[in-house]
Order: sequence, then structure tokens, then C-alpha cells
Amino acid sequence: MNSPHTPTQPLVFESDPVAMRARVAEALRGGLRVGFVPTMGALHAGHDSLVARATGECDAVAVSIFVNPTQFGPREDYSRYPRTFEADCGRLRPLGVRWVFTPSVEGMYPAGDATRVHVAGPADRWEGAFRPGHFDGVATVVAKLLSAVPATKAYFGEKDWQQSAVIRRMAADLLLPTEIVVCPTVREADGLAMSSRNVYLSAPERSRAAAIARSLERGSELWDRGVEAGEIERAARESLVELGFEVDYWSIVCEDSLVPVVELPAAAGGVRPRIITACRLGSTRLIDNRGLSPR
Ligand code: PAF
Repeated sequence: MNSPHTPTQPLVFESDPVAMRARVAEALRGGLRVGFVPTMGALHAGHDSLVARATGECDAVAVSIFVNPTQFGPREDYSRYPRTFEADCGRLRPLGVRWVFTPSVEGMYPAGDATRVHVAGPADRWEGAFRPGHFDGVATVVAKLLSAVPATKAYFGEKDWQQSAVIRRMAADLLLPTEIVVCPTVREADGLAMSSRNVYLSAPERSRAAAIARSLERGSELWDRGVEAGEIERAARESLVELGFEVDYWSIVCEDSLVPVVELPAAAGGVRPRIITACRLGSTRLIDNRGLSPR
């Protein structure tokens, strides 16, 4: 099927969730496949890759830009989170995006707002433990965004692996009709995973930050050689601490349940293992992950 969008089409901006839903519903009624890329703005090449996948697979693509207050803790970076709206639009213009959905905080959380989506299971540990309430905020806003943009497919980055597992769980549990697509992480030349928060790093921190991706590669090599998970984890944490990182976690987990493989019965079969990590460099917190081959 020929894609009815062209890279030069003007962006259509919509801030009203009800009007946005009407636009998408009309496109779906017309037989179009609608793709959706939810973002918090501060777009980079990682977002471009999500949009490219969406435009490749769908006929009309919506991108949302909404810095969602409910997924930030009281002492986190909501107020200083980078807001680069003009640059974001310039970035989206040549990519063949049809709609840019820019709801307001009041539009997404109307007066009297009293509903939160709480996902247990994959949301319980790791980011869920270090950032209490974070995944309630993510699950709630993604449910709302998918209500305003009831797309055929929605695209999320693998870089936030646990987030993608939580969203897949929520979409399955709430019987949401949108297919959740998780796309590979885009990395800088030295391996650092692209993130809107990388701009917080000072120049010396930025040059050290690639050690996180190197620790994942090293972990993967040791895993392939048969080294025991606990030993790989200890070695990785020690080497990152020596380099000046504070390691919130560096663990090998089952990629769907997020349960550490060291807690699984030795005979547990069918586990798809993945390293997940969160490390702090100064005041910047970085997360990354890497899939491992099943043992
Ligand atoms: O990954 C993000 O940018 C955000 O967590 C998301 C999925 C857009 C929800 O605010």
C-alpha cells in the first residue's frame, strides 16, 4: 500500500485529547494504519528511529510531546527536564509525521483527576523501587495517550527496557487494541545510549559515561562463557564503582518478569535474560540494558 503521507507535508498540531481522538478515528475509519510515537520532547536520533519505524509500517503517524509530571518524583528533574519544542518540530518536519499531539497538563489531568493505573509484576523492582510512583505515572499517562491516540501501533524505545515491559503488561491486561512495538536502542559512537538526559552530563562525565555500555558488553561476553550470573554482576558493579559511578543496580534478569535470574530455580527454562542497569554520575542518572542469549 502506498503511504499517503509525504515527507514534506505540514505538521498538524492538536492539543485537545478529544479532537485528537476524532482525527485518529477518522483516519482509521478511512482504512489507514495509524502509528503513534509518545515522547516527552527533547527529541534525538533515538526518537527519529521510532518515527522512521512508524512511518515505515503505518500510513499516518502521530507524535506526542508531553512532559508528564506524574512520572517524576518530588525531588526529580521535572522542572529542569529539557524542553526544546521548536527544535523538536524542526526535527519532525522532514520525517513524514502527520500530527503532533501537544496536550496541556490540565488537558491530561482534568480538575478532580483521581485515577492512576498501577502495574505490579514487572514494575515492582529496579526503577519501581528507586523511583517510587514513577511507573504509576508512566502507565497512567500512556493509557491516557493511547485513549487520545487510539493508534494501530505505538512505538517505544528499548533503552527504557523496564518501561517497555510495564507498558506491554498494561496493554495486555487492559485489553488495549494498540499493538506495542519495542525498537532497538540508538547509541552514540562510543556506545552511550541516546537519552534526553545526556545533556545533563559535564564534558568529563560524558567521556566516562560510555563505561556503562562497555560493562554491558563485558557482561555479555562473560555470560556467553558460562560465568555465573552473581559473579558477573559483582564484577560489573565493582568496575563501575572504581570508575566513579554510583550503581543503583546492575543485574541479570528475566526480560519479561524482571526477576533476577539468580532467584530463578536452576531448571527454569525459556528464560530470556537481559542485563539492566542504572548508574549515577554526579547528579545525572543513566539507565541502559542489553539482551543476553538464553542459556
Ligand atoms: O519514554 C518516555 O519518553 C516517556 O516515559 C513516555 C513513554 C512518553 C511517557 O511519558
